[in-house]
Amino acid sequence: MSAAESTYSIDVIAGDGIGPEVMSAAVACVDALGPAFGYTVQWRIRDWGSGYYRRHGRMMPADGLDQLATGDAILLGAVGTPDIADDASLWGLLIPIRRHFDQYVNLRPVRLLPGVTSPLADAGQVDILVVRENTEGEYSEIGGRIHRGQPGEAAIQEAVFTRAGITRVSEYAIDQAVRRKGHLISATKSNGIIHTMPFWDQVVEETAAGRTGLTLEKVLIDALAARLVLNPRSVDVILASNLFGDILSDLAAAVAGSIGVAPSANLNPPRRHPSMFESVHGSAPDIAGQGLANPVGQMWAAAMMLDHLGQPAATSALTASFESALQSGTRTRDLGGTASTAQFTDAVLEQCRTVNPAAAA
Ligand code: NAI
Ligand code: MG
Repeated sequence: MSAAESTYSIDVIAGDGIGPEVMSAAVACVDALGPAFGYTVQWRIRDWGSGYYRRHGRMMPADGLDQLATGDAILLGAVGTPDIADDASLWGLLIPIRRHFDQYVNLRPVRLLPGVTSPLADAGQVDILVVRENTEGEYSEIGGRIHRGQPGEAAIQEAVFTRAGITRVSEYAIDQAVRRKGHLISATKSNGIIHTMPFWDQVVEETAAGRTGLTLEKVLIDALAARLVLNPRSVDVILASNLFGDILSDLAAAVAGSIGVAPSANLNPPRRHPSMFESVHGSAPDIAGQGLANPVGQMWAAAMMLDHLGQPAATSALTASFESALQSGTRTRDLGGTASTAQFTDAVLEQCRTVNPAAAA
């Protein structure tokens, strides 16, 4: 139990589709654990996303980033709806938040949870942490299209890799690797992409040089993708550029069974700005409004948020609670169960109270 009471201001962007359904489940868990661990949360509800876009022609208010700047963290559900172009939701909300708040680490833990079946026969104890560079690399606005609609039409998109950008994300990944098993895999493609990727390799190596308790392995992205399928247990911490990390983390999440259980953190490690925590899945319009959504990814994201806020014991209690609920056989339909979102959430809340009786107060 923590000695001092803490109060956090958390911005909630539940978003679209199943976003609000899984968000209320995650918020209930965080609130349920508060009394036991000595914190309270002031939730600042933001009705941003596609509904806001229909009313105002933009995904968030013009001063949206200023509003978020005063909070301790951001919890995001999912944004996106079939009748609005996906790049409008991505570049109108998510990417501005990641870049404005310099959330240069995208962290995605991947574990095979109880009751979740991997599509691989021998996934066993998969436990992987993907550290993805989140502000530069292949995702850049630099480029353009010429001769639109003409036979000579062409497009150019530049990738931007900076020494500072590679160094800081490498430092983060190295720290994580040293804290875990001391093994870091850096995803590269320096045989084919002959300017940026050798630079990436060089800066990663320079950053890792002299670190005790660390083995650095460079693996080509194509071979690494195959290895995640063939031998996922040989992988612990992966460091990857924006694009490679995006692809690998979905691949790793698939190995761990279901998109519905995967969380992600967009971190500003120096804590100059709020960090953002989100489920990996999207708004799932095919199941929205039916009470079928699996809230585990959103709960796990909330647990990562508690860790970032300095509440590691509450993080463990929350992850243990949804793992126990899964273990006991309460599962949503995507995991082969019959529980609704609400029924599964109730099972987790009950576990939250068991983990620490004071939480039931
Ligand atoms: P999706 O993740 O929303 O859905 C893919 C499939 O997984 C669907 O069959 C869905 O029913 C299922 N699924 C996803 N989450 C689930 C959960 N928690 N429980 C049970 N089943 C779940 O991806 P999709 O269909 O490609 O995208 C739908 C919309 O979401 C699009 O507008 C897309 O742009 C947006 N999106 C937003 C993201 C974000 O807010 N960070 C991330 C990915 C997609
Ligand atoms: Mg999400």
